[in-house]
Amino acid sequence: MCGIVGCILKVGSVAPLIHDSLKRLEYRGYDSCGVATMDRGRIYMKKDSGSIDEVHARLNLDDLPGRIGVGHTRWATHGAPTQVNAHPHLDCKGRIAVVHNGIIENFAELRRELEEKGHRFASKTDTEVVAHLVEDYMAGGLGFVEACREAIKRLRGSYALAILCAGEERIVCARKESPLVLGVGADGMYFASDIPAFLPYTNRVVVMEDGELAVLTDSGYEIRRIDDWSLVSREPKLIDWSVDMAEKQGYPHFMLKEIHEQPRCLRDTLRLQPVYLDLMAKFLDRAQELFLVACGTSYHACLATSYLFSKLACRGSHPVIASEFIQNYGNTLGIGSTVLAVSQSGETADTLSAVSYAKDRAATILGITNVVGSTLTRLARVYVCQQSGPEIGVAATKTYTSQLSVLTQLAIKLGMLRGKIGHVEGEELHEWLWRIPDITAEILDSREKQVMELAKRYAGSDKFLFVGRGINYATAMEGRLKLLEIAYIPSLAYAGLEDHVFGFVDGGTIAVFICPNNNSRKVLIDEMNLLRDVGANIIALAEEGDVEVAEVADDVVWLPAMPLDLLTPIPYIVPLQLLAYYTSVERGLNPDRPRNLAKSVTVK
Ligand code: G6P
Repeated sequence: MCGIVGCILKVGSVAPLIHDSLKRLEYRGYDSCGVATMDRGRIYMKKDSGSIDEVHARLNLDDLPGRIGVGHTRWATHGAPTQVNAHPHLDCKGRIAVVHNGIIENFAELRRELEEKGHRFASKTDTEVVAHLVEDYMAGGLGFVEACREAIKRLRGSYALAILCAGEERIVCARKESPLVLGVGADGMYFASDIPAFLPYTNRVVVMEDGELAVLTDSGYEIRRIDDWSLVSREPKLIDWSVDMAEKQGYPHFMLKEIHEQPRCLRDTLRLQPVYLDLMAKFLDRAQELFLVACGTSYHACLATSYLFSKLACRGSHPVIASEFIQNYGNTLGIGSTVLAVSQSGETADTLSAVSYAKDRAATILGITNVVGSTLTRLARVYVCQQSGPEIGVAATKTYTSQLSVLTQLAIKLGMLRGKIGHVEGEELHEWLWRIPDITAEILDSREKQVMELAKRYAGSDKFLFVGRGINYATAMEGRLKLLEIAYIPSLAYAGLEDHVFGFVDGGTIAVFICPNNNSRKVLIDEMNLLRDVGANIIALAEEGDVEVAEVADDVVWLPAMPLDLLTPIPYIVPLQLLAYYTSVERGLNPDRPRNLAKSVTVK
């Protein structure tokens, strides 16, 4: 995954602005970066491997001349993260500059064809073919925009592209399956992979759709369909995210900031328009067969949801990891199937493949996402925005708890619709949902220091085990994923201990039990005892005042009593997010930038 951004200003120097915007896209990739500008008929470019700060310290990205430019922050997919493979990429004469996010599947054959015609390639990337293709069409007599269109028509795969040409006071952008948004500012036109990139400069946003090409000038934009060249008329929407929401606000890392944003985000999720949840509940009710499809953290939200649907609404469902969906259920899909896809970004390639496959077989598609205008929102019959605001930390935190809150509301609605929950019970559950933001704030206030100390004590451990039963099996899985993602400590998650676990556990093992006061509690206490006997250190998350847990665990993180087990996943994940965060920091790692991990995986 990569981030692209660019701008064409009416007056002034664009390079510092692109540099600043690129910083807000670093969550999309940070192994190399580059900027190209156009001034007085010439392209100027600086690029290198390393983070934006490193490259800027080396090259000074701010002194490129001109008021038109494009930038890129890369997460390598084709070709190693080296200077030569960093974007932008140029044609043979250095007159065309291209930045790209996505994968061009047929780049090898295009490259061969262009090389046979005499084009010389500098990099190993798929992207460079675009610069040479545009060059080739222009050499054949086409104008800049027409050449871009013809070049793009040759591409197979996914792309958000932006193209500069020496002597042209325009930027051409195009999109297929990779996110791309335009920003309409008073001082010029912007484009980026994601809104926070240009949010300090404008909040008037146009979301581009697949198969569209946009020509940006300093005073506006024109969007056309690439296939039939028809004009698309689309007005900008006002985005009410503040710049503050997209920046760190004094926290050392975005992840910690976002963990602390959870009370506010959870409140926002409770202010959703009921009409879409009601509609979604109707579709869920009538589905013959229901699949909950997602990847990573969003999959854990689906796993928890399957318990919520079953227990609150007697609605069976299959939570499925998106990459397995087609293999496992492809042959069984039909008009009676419903797929509820959950994706923070709305762009995860495996989730979108599963959804498209099901849609082609007449299944009903429902979506929960954080990004309105994302591909998932366009594929879904009904979608609900989870209202988390932008999440910059690669490890999902606030978006997970927001998903849980939305999905719990949905389960309550479904339960009421199916007559499994009475009105009074429904209202009580809702009241509790409204208390969860305050409960979460209280946990953050009162438990953060304790968890920080636990992280200090155990950061050197080489294995962790997370145990949770029922709906909190999802909490165990998510706690483990967080620790793996940002602290790289080998970890396992279990719903119930199996014999082989005892072979793995030794005095260096930290066993984390998610043990609220429910009917699994006794079994979990027995399992804590068994693990303690083989030398494990036990950390338990338990209800305030649970003396039996306190007797067996080495450390207890006390959590407020909840009226219903099904409401515990939100409060109980918070200490585990903090544990992963502080463990990562203790180990000298950067939790915002886990290696080999990108915020959303837009290629398969
Ligand atoms: C990838 C990321 C995970 C993320 C998952 C789902 O697997 O590495 O961190 O949870 O995608 O992302 P989504 O945007 O679809 O919720």
